[in-house]
Amino acid sequence: MTRAFLRAKPFYSTTPTLGQEGSKRYLRAYMLDLVGRSCLITGGSKGIGLVIATRFARAGATCTLVARHENPLRDAVSSLAKCRGQDHRFLVGDVGDRKLWEQAVKMNPGIDILVNSAGQSQTSLLLRTPVEEIDDVVRVNLLGAIYGTKFYFKEMARARRGCIINISSILASTGGGGSSVYAASKAGLHGFVKSMAQEASRFNVRINNILPGYIETEMTAAIRSSTRAEALLQTPLGRFGTAAEVADAAYYLATSEYITGTDLIVDGGYAC
Ligand SMILES: NC(=O)c1ccc[n+]([C@@H]2O[C@H](COP(=O)([O-])OP(=O)(O)OC[C@H]3O[C@@H](n4cnc5c(N)ncnc54)[C@H](OP(=O)(O)O)[C@@H]3O)[C@@H](O)[C@H]2O)c1
Repeated sequence: MTRAFLRAKPFYSTTPTLGQEGSKRYLRAYMLDLVGRSCLITGGSKGIGLVIATRFARAGATCTLVARHENPLRDAVSSLAKCRGQDHRFLVGDVGDRKLWEQAVKMNPGIDILVNSAGQSQTSLLLRTPVEEIDDVVRVNLLGAIYGTKFYFKEMARARRGCIINISSILASTGGGGSSVYAASKAGLHGFVKSMAQEASRFNVRINNILPGYIETEMTAAIRSSTRAEALLQTPLGRFGTAAEVADAAYYLATSEYITGTDLIVDGGYAC
């Protein structure tokens, strides 16, 4: 009995395999499963937003990038031309300005995936933060994502499909001295997503947040070396993340039809 058992082929050797051509086909299908999808990515001219756009364009999506400065947007759209998706374009404007969204919906209808990545950081104690800066941080990080969702949700609901991804921050959960307003603006996205997931699900529209820890971009290049060293000490994986690692999470949310109303943490263990 034991011998027969030992002689038996392991179960995996009898499992039919895809073969080389099959696995290539599978890979192609997997890599291209955003073909025909239109994405609008705020903060798409650089950093995390641009890497997400590149990832989506490689998977076949058409991307519209939004930011305030035209030249970096032009460069970003040119870089996307090397990817598979086509007709990438850009829109110049401030996400905290309602008029931008009115214009965006008119000029770019039919968006399937909205990524709210535009963000403004804060590196000062509340007592030293000018009120104008407080207004700006909340307006861009929180209102920008809310406006984008409000303006595109109507269309998505009508089309009975859509996916919204907000780039929040792990500081929304842990807090961080010197980032109180930033953390508050990102924490607001938590309640927003939980509520909107309830409103949007019956229209087959999903909405989620990604909470990155410290990621190597221009935003973190500006932080003081002592803060950087402290952040590294608090990150069990011992390094800052890459924008590509956040883009992996965005791609996962964009293609996971059963996930809504969640906060996906990508922080190297920072919040542990
Ligand atoms: N890097 C990190 O460690 C980290 C960690 C957690 C969360 N996040 C979040 O991830 C998102 C992306 O950050 P990042 O590191 O990629 O930043 P980044 O490299 O500084 O890029 C920010 C992008 O947002 C655009 N932007 C800024 N303010 C805008 C506004 N009012 N309207 C329209 N576009 C605006 C910028 O272009 P213009 O300047 O031309 O407008 C740029 O394209 C942000 O929401 C940030 O809070 C970042």
